[in-house]
Amino acid sequence: MSSLAVEKLRAAFPALQESGDKKPFIYFDGPGGTQMAQQAIDGMLAYITGGMANLHGAFPTSVGTDNLLLEGRKAMADLLHCAPEEVAFGQNMTTLAFSIARSLGNFFSSGDEVVVTEMDHRANVDPWVTLAADKGAKVRFLELNTETYILNLDKLDELITEKTKLVAVGMSSNVTGTVTDVKRVIARAKEVNAIVVLDAVHAVPHLPIDFQELACDVLLCSAYKFFGPHIGIAVIAASLFEKLQVYKLAPAPQQIPDKLETGTQNHEAIAGLIGAITFIEKLGEGKTRRERLTSGMHRIEEHEQQLTARLDSFLRQVPGLILYRAPEGIYRTPTFAFTLPGIKAREVTSWFAEHYSMCIADGHFYASTMADKLGVNPMGGWVRIGLAPYNTLEEVALFEQGLREFIETKVSR
Ligand SMILES: Cc1ncc(COP(=O)(O)O)c(C=O)c1O
Repeated sequence: MSSLAVEKLRAAFPALQESGDKKPFIYFDGPGGTQMAQQAIDGMLAYITGGMANLHGAFPTSVGTDNLLLEGRKAMADLLHCAPEEVAFGQNMTTLAFSIARSLGNFFSSGDEVVVTEMDHRANVDPWVTLAADKGAKVRFLELNTETYILNLDKLDELITEKTKLVAVGMSSNVTGTVTDVKRVIARAKEVNAIVVLDAVHAVPHLPIDFQELACDVLLCSAYKFFGPHIGIAVIAASLFEKLQVYKLAPAPQQIPDKLETGTQNHEAIAGLIGAITFIEKLGEGKTRRERLTSGMHRIEEHEQQLTARLDSFLRQVPGLILYRAPEGIYRTPTFAFTLPGIKAREVTSWFAEHYSMCIADGHFYASTMADKLGVNPMGGWVRIGLAPYNTLEEVALFEQGLREFIETKVSR
């Protein structure tokens, strides 16, 4: 048994509750977006009903909104272990990555190179590829090993050289769940003074993160993947952030982090984000919020890994099923991608929605380089089961029953 009180935790998610004769769906699509915790909903409602405002005014709701942004930065700083002024908000991870890429233009000169990966979501590829195209820089790809679904880090020294200006790598794949040894990548990138961008969108919901310890330059994530609303967050090391020449309105603030936050932010989503962080904090123990958040994340991880062990061993013995998962010894999030012979991914997910009321996603999940390389596109990509802390062993067992039934009726006809 894990130390997470799952039934209590589930009670914090209105979307998981029965109402009248309506039974809720079983959500296995955490990597696409988790359900929202009550604290996040309460935070958003309280901000909206308590009187909304824009920043920098003399009146109470405006002062309150200034404070809300400060509190949002502090909460994120405790979740990720960075300084509050290193936290900037934006529409989503993708939009933040594009605006950071545009701000990095003056760092580049001819002959520079950018290193991205074959495994990543394209949100951590195309902003840097676009920057490279604008600046005439060369793009190099860190290869995916098509048998183990891990990045070929043995090529790091060859790939990251004195010419490398920026390295963008994902902490964890939103398809296979592979957790990359980013410390190794950062260490090599720092030997040649390259800027390191980490896509932590799929990592933050599953692992405790320490920005200071990682010592990367940019870390990006999205609150709708960790029980909050649709808002993106960028953490940028102050030393780099100060130097970023962002595209901004002339009279808008020059200082970090405000200078990256073009226009009016989604204040209600920031209130929701604080609520989502409070939800994680309440799962943990410790003297400081950082300690409680780390402990809460460890409990989430422990519970998810328990379900993962079961689902992993089940999926590995389903005849004909191809599981795109790294071998034992490689750390993996509770995210599973598979294909079934001769069956389109959408057929599987529609069947589960209809017969088992399960939300299971299919497609390339924007990890399109990996999808192309592994040849899954003709079958409509992968079927992806993504576990969240509110999933239970019973739900996993029900999925297993469903898959056996699906295979009996559809595959072994
Ligand atoms: C690993 C990963 N990176 C980036 C993104 C893009 O995030 P956003 O929707 O906030 O732009 C996603 C979204 O699914 C993702 O899973």
